[in-house]
Order: sequence, then C-alpha cells, then structure tokens
Amino acid sequence: MRVVDLIEKKRNGLELTKSEIDFIITEYTNGNLPDYQMSALAMAIYFQDMTQEERVHLTTAMVNSGDQIDLSEIEGIKVDKHSTGGVGDTTTLVLGPLVAAVGVPVAKMSGRGLGHTGGTIDKLEAVPGFHVEITNDEFIRLVNTNKLAVIGQSGDLTPADKSLYALRDVTATVDSIPLIASSIMSKKIAAGADAICLDVKTGNGAFMKDLKDAEALAQAMVEIGKGVGRNTKAIISDMSQPLGFAVGNALEVKEAIDTLKGEGPEDLTELCLTLGSHMVMLAKKASSLEEARALLIEVIDNGQALATFKTFLEAQGGDASVVDDPSQLPDASYKISVPAKADGYVSEIVAEQIGVAAMKLGAGRATKESVIDLAVGVVLHKKVGDAVKKGDTLVTIHSNSENVDEVMNVIYDSYTIVSEQVDAPTLIYKEIH
Ligand code: URA
Ligand code: CA
Repeated sequence: MRVVDLIEKKRNGLELTKSEIDFIITEYTNGNLPDYQMSALAMAIYFQDMTQEERVHLTTAMVNSGDQIDLSEIEGIKVDKHSTGGVGDTTTLVLGPLVAAVGVPVAKMSGRGLGHTGGTIDKLEAVPGFHVEITNDEFIRLVNTNKLAVIGQSGDLTPADKSLYALRDVTATVDSIPLIASSIMSKKIAAGADAICLDVKTGNGAFMKDLKDAEALAQAMVEIGKGVGRNTKAIISDMSQPLGFAVGNALEVKEAIDTLKGEGPEDLTELCLTLGSHMVMLAKKASSLEEARALLIEVIDNGQALATFKTFLEAQGGDASVVDDPSQLPDASYKISVPAKADGYVSEIVAEQIGVAAMKLGAGRATKESVIDLAVGVVLHKKVGDAVKKGDTLVTIHSNSENVDEVMNVIYDSYTIVSEQVDAPTLIYKEIH
C-alpha cells in the first residue's frame, strides 16, 4: 500500500476500506507517515467527506492506536456524558451525583485542560482536601460502592487523535464533521464507556455556531456510536448565552450544590434533567424518559442527590461540610457589581465574552503552565429576556484584585439591552436518537 495512492483515492471522492484506514492510522501513530501526507489526507477528507463505514473505521483505528480503559469490573452499564463545550457549563458537576443517586454508575476520567474556567477536576479541587490521585483499583471500588468517582487522566489514550487534532489545528481542517465526530467518539470509547450521552452545543459560545452544523455533528456521532456497538444519544442545546449564572471554579461548585438541592438556575436544572434522563435510559434504569425524569426529581426532592455528592467528596478526601456551608469554599476578596446603564430588556449576552472576562480574572488556563485562581469568576444576575432597570446589577465580578476596569468593559460589551421585550432563547433544540 502506498499512502500517496490512498490520498489520491480520497481526493477523487472514493471510499477507503477498513484495511486502508487501519494502515494509515497505524503508520501515522508509529511515526512512519509524515505530517505533510496526513495533512493532505485531512484536507481531502474535508472536501470529500467520509461514508458512515469510513467514519466507523477511522474511529476504531484511533481507539486502537493507544491504551483503552477497562471498566469491566464495574457493575452495570457505564454511561459517559460529553459536552462539546461552552461557557459556565456546570452540568458535569451536577449530573454525576444526580444520576449516581438513581443507581447509574459514573466512572469519570477527567482532565484539566485549557479554557475559560478549569475542567471538572479543577472545579472539584475547590473543595478543601478533594483529590483525584487514586489508584485504578480504588477508582473501581469507589464506583462500585458509591456509584461515582473521578480520576485524573492516565495512560496514553488515542495518540493518533492527539497528533491529528494538533495537525488539523494548523492546516484549517478542524471544522470537518467526520474528523470532529471520530475525534470525540474515539476518546469516549477508549475511556471505557458502554453508552454515551452527548450534549452538542449551538450558538455564539459554542464550537458549532449554527443549528444545522450542530445537528449534523450530533447525527454523525450517534451513528458512529451505533456503528461501534455503543448506544449513543445526543441532544442539541443552547450556548448563545452562558449556562446558569456562575462562571468560575468554586462559584460553579456552589451552583452545582444549589442545583442538587433543587434551588439552581432554571436552564441548568432543565438541561441536567434532560441529559440525566437520557443517561438513566441508556443505563437501563428506567423504561421511559418520563419515568427517568421522575426518578431524578425524586432524588433531588428527597436529598439523595446531595447525599451522594457528599459521600463522593468524602471518599476522595474532600471536606463535605462545604455542601451545607458553601461559604467555606474559596472566596474572592472583592465582589464588584456591574450595574445596568439603562432600563430595558436583555437581548443578548455574548457567551464567549463572559468566558473571556472569567479568564481575565484568572479562572481559567491560557497555557498548560497557568495557575488557576479557584475563587474568582462572574455571577450573572440577568439573562436574555430579563427586564432590567438602570442601576440593577447585571453581573457580580468576584476578583482578587481591586482593579477590574478591563473586565467590566468586556462585560458591558457582551450585554445588549433593548427597549422592546425579548423572549428567552430555546434551551433544548432537539434530541437525536
Ligand atoms: N473536540 C475534539 O475533541 N475533537 C475535535 O476534532 C473537535 C473538537
Ligand atoms: Ca454555570
């Protein structure tokens, strides 16, 4: 097999076979296929697309390029959730204990990563003492006893994807549906999920800015999941404004606690109930979405969701008393109000810019070496559709430095206030099976 012939084949719009795709990915992983040939192939895929069979073969080849996590010692169907990313997305913190409380095993492997806030692990480390440095055996034991544990990323998962994603980043081939879908799915499958629940975001704060693209991506991932024998469902949800109120690490832990108590923001609560219902169904713990939702509401109302969160924190060294007294979480020195400059209705909050504001305060990492300030961030008091009066607080800035002029300007720029009444945006656009 010559790689140049395979590039030509794809360039001409023909279908690559399983053995051809395996050959390419194996050679690439072993360092025998130069970046210039892989770039040319990625560009050919960008223009010619891939068939469903090719997408499944590519995903499988990337899974096989590295280690795979074996969760077979955990009882039950392991359901993983993946969000394509957004601003202030507190859902993972809520969903873990929420679905665990109805018996769905959640074995979460998580990273830190770059972004507007830290990743799930960073957020949880706002709880004094909490840590993810546990052995694999301990991880499995904790999931079996408490239904929930979080461990840091270990092993060399999907090295082919790691290299290809970095290459796509510098060759204008990131926004290709078959390449994105296989990239995301390969990572979930290698991490050991039996079933996968996807939250594909759309809107200005999302990777997929418009609904049509988000739908195509969701459909592609669901079909890959089915093609490799992992039951997969997707929903498409709004990211035209930040989710919930809080954007920051400790601030989002507090928001997750509120939500597990049934006192969280309406949009975050609804999204968690929707995603959670699909997870419960995927884990075969209910026979209909309605029944699944009722189970989730029950564990919020009777306190079991919150109790599961406490047990989970304690099992990994955390001080669970923060759940009853969130004032023990890291707290910023300055809380500065951003007041509305006029009466009217909020018509837009550019999610991306709110993320930038949190980042400027120190809530996220710009490079791998950045140190996160767990206490800082922003809390929104007004969301799209809300009426405001001049002087009302739009946002509270939680900062450890007194001078927040620049952050304040970013927040003002992200808010649009108009005189006519505005509807709140749709939260959940579609469910894809
Ligand atoms: N996220 C991923 O993990 N992979 C992509 O290709 C795009 C977004
Ligand atoms: Ca939030």
